[in-house]
Amino acid sequence: MSAPRLDWQAGPGDPLRGELSVPGDKSVSHRAVMLGALAEGSSEVQGFLEGEDTQATAAIFARLGVRIEAPSASRRIVHGVGLHGLGAASEPLDCGNAGTGMRLLAGLLAGQAFDSVLVGDQSLSRRPMGRVITPLQAMGAVIEAGEGGLPPLRIHGNKVLQAIDFKSPVASAQVKSAVLLAGLYARGSTRVVEPHPTRDYTERMLAAFGWPVRFSPGEARLEGGHRLRATQVVVPADFSSAAFFLVAASVVPGSDLCLRRVGMNPRRTGLLDALRMMGADITAESSGEQGGEPVADLRVRHARLRGIDVPEALVPDMIDEFPALFVAAALAEGITRVSGAAELRVKESDRIAVMAKALQALGADIAETPDGAVIRGGRLRGGEADSHGDHRIAMALAVAAQRADGEVRIRDCANVATSFPGFEALARGAGLGLQVCAGVG
Ligand code: S3P
Repeated sequence: MSAPRLDWQAGPGDPLRGELSVPGDKSVSHRAVMLGALAEGSSEVQGFLEGEDTQATAAIFARLGVRIEAPSASRRIVHGVGLHGLGAASEPLDCGNAGTGMRLLAGLLAGQAFDSVLVGDQSLSRRPMGRVITPLQAMGAVIEAGEGGLPPLRIHGNKVLQAIDFKSPVASAQVKSAVLLAGLYARGSTRVVEPHPTRDYTERMLAAFGWPVRFSPGEARLEGGHRLRATQVVVPADFSSAAFFLVAASVVPGSDLCLRRVGMNPRRTGLLDALRMMGADITAESSGEQGGEPVADLRVRHARLRGIDVPEALVPDMIDEFPALFVAAALAEGITRVSGAAELRVKESDRIAVMAKALQALGADIAETPDGAVIRGGRLRGGEADSHGDHRIAMALAVAAQRADGEVRIRDCANVATSFPGFEALARGAGLGLQVCAGVG
């Protein structure tokens, strides 16, 4: 899936005011399609993210023989085929830009009676898959990767999988989920223990689909040989998409914005804690529950931010939010230090290097460290910054531009559609100065 080149021209706009709703959660949308496909009966997904990543996952299950209806935008009816009902695809399965898609599918497909090949775009083709291949091989899976454990993945079917007691060396929900999904097909009791708790959507959703699973922060356990039963999944708004507006409204004077019904799973809201430590004025109102997940309206008003040492314990709970946090830090008073975040180097881009370069291009004082950065807040100037095709970096830079002294050209923004389709219009409606222009060169 290679989208045409697209640049943005961004610069100071208006204060962010009013109310807005961001699209559905990416992690939950991927899993809803996967478990719906393996369930018995038809599952309805409401609030499905119409992003390229999650659409790629839905397309893959269609190729594997699952009928998926889209009666309207953000709704899917997944006609499940049962745990053993998938059929082989004749061509490689394209995960696009989605690490979640590829890593979770590696676990799920390892348990099938047929072979599969998983491929991805340029960015995904550079991302490490050894972290899922190693535990899956220990379970008896046979998976071949390219050099250095990179995609494509050739997954051989018809293997008898054995349960595993896996102590993951990396705090990764994708690794945990890959092992748990393979565990559905394995003999015995599979357990995953993590070095730090990560998002628990796979565990929660397996339980909602009727699979017995025991979990607590940092640990999950299930046995093979049960069945998944169709259910209704209500997807909350994605905290990671809301994050850009939390930072934008915090840094633009005069802002007072309400983000409606945002997913507040505690394994996702680390940025909220970090921003509050920096002095942000964000309140959670009308807290409630939606589809078994905590949600709240988040009201954010402009505040003067000051630099902090981001506690390492918060890192896994805000792992996707560092591009936004770096922007908040670059505009805060004083120094912000990030450490214990080496995982950022293997996301859709090397988010430490790409953010450091992009913010430096706008005049920020930011130095990389192997596992983080040191950022001294100050002024930003206009100029040109490259997102390297990383959706979250493009959106973070659009936020930074709101406080720059001049216009900022942001390169290579088409991949924003992987996680946040319609960001440009929604952001403009909220007050951001942002125009789309054709990419050149
Ligand atoms: C995700 C887990 C995280 C996150 C990614 C989505 C998931 O990755 O960065 O955007 O849906 O499980 P890791 O588990 O590799 O940290």
